[in-house]
Amino acid sequence: MVTASAPGKVYLFGEHAVVYGEPAVPCAIELRAHVTVTERDSGLRVTAGDLTLDGFTVEYDGAASGRPDVDVSDSLIEAAMGYINEGIAQAKDAAGAENVGFDIAIESEIPLGAGLGSSAAVVVAAIEAATRELGVELSPEEIADRAYRVEHTVQDGQASRADTFCCAMGGAVRVEGDDCRVIEAPDLPFVIGYDGGAGDTGALVAGVRERKETYGFADDTVSAIGDLVREGEQALAEGDIAELGALMNFNHGLLSALGVSSRSLDAMVWAARDAGALGAKLTGAGGGGCIVALDDTPETETALEYTPGCKDAYRAALDTDGVRVED
Ligand code: PMV
Repeated sequence: MVTASAPGKVYLFGEHAVVYGEPAVPCAIELRAHVTVTERDSGLRVTAGDLTLDGFTVEYDGAASGRPDVDVSDSLIEAAMGYINEGIAQAKDAAGAENVGFDIAIESEIPLGAGLGSSAAVVVAAIEAATRELGVELSPEEIADRAYRVEHTVQDGQASRADTFCCAMGGAVRVEGDDCRVIEAPDLPFVIGYDGGAGDTGALVAGVRERKETYGFADDTVSAIGDLVREGEQALAEGDIAELGALMNFNHGLLSALGVSSRSLDAMVWAARDAGALGAKLTGAGGGGCIVALDDTPETETALEYTPGCKDAYRAALDTDGVRVED
């Protein structure tokens, strides 16, 4: 039996624009997904304790055909099964062990589909735990690459390397196309606001693509996000947290112009700014889910707790640890 964990992430800058080859800077946060894998003769048995898929248990023979009798949407079940299936296929491939089965238990503190990289964290931790269980040790870079292939398959080719690289490596990372690297970052006082919902990443990405193709100024907005990220990298290197906050505010405005914010995300962003946060923006695909703010005082977290539309608020410091095996 091996347990591995991997962190969730927030985008300091650059989501959506990264899809068109602009750079993005995601940062790992101290909210983790834990996956425990135990080898067995054949088949997969998956138990998810702490997800929206509460009490989700499914037993199947390796094909994602066994529909469990639980009251959650088919698309969520299919997505969860797809990630696990493909992750396990990558682990078996890496270990050259085709004919093994696994019991898999997932516990995650990361809300599903809310812009915090829950699927990447589960896939990365599953690949690490399953390969270790088979006696093989992969580098974090190889785990990131295999997890990216999983996301690429499950998300019909609509995935950047940002989530999977960030959560395998930990810390702050810079991703531009296939060029992924870990970058220096000061301790960042992240506060997260969660509206309890989720955005449809595929539809949101398609919406941005359509606006970009229809309007030259939407295309310019995507390029402007790229310019902003390059400024942001400079501020990060200099440890200039006030400048990072100002650029996060700007990035939220540009994302909003591209049509991916929502009333609840805007309400949380403004609550954070009014409470004195250095900056605040939506994180991830948008449409609903989470915002990220920078504030080293308790003010933003308290303000978010009282903001209508905010279901949960928490502090989540930058996590310099990527994927790791737990004792
Ligand atoms: O909401 P998330 O964490 O899946 O992030 C999506 C980020 C996008 O840039 C919108 C898409 C991508 O794959 O990079």
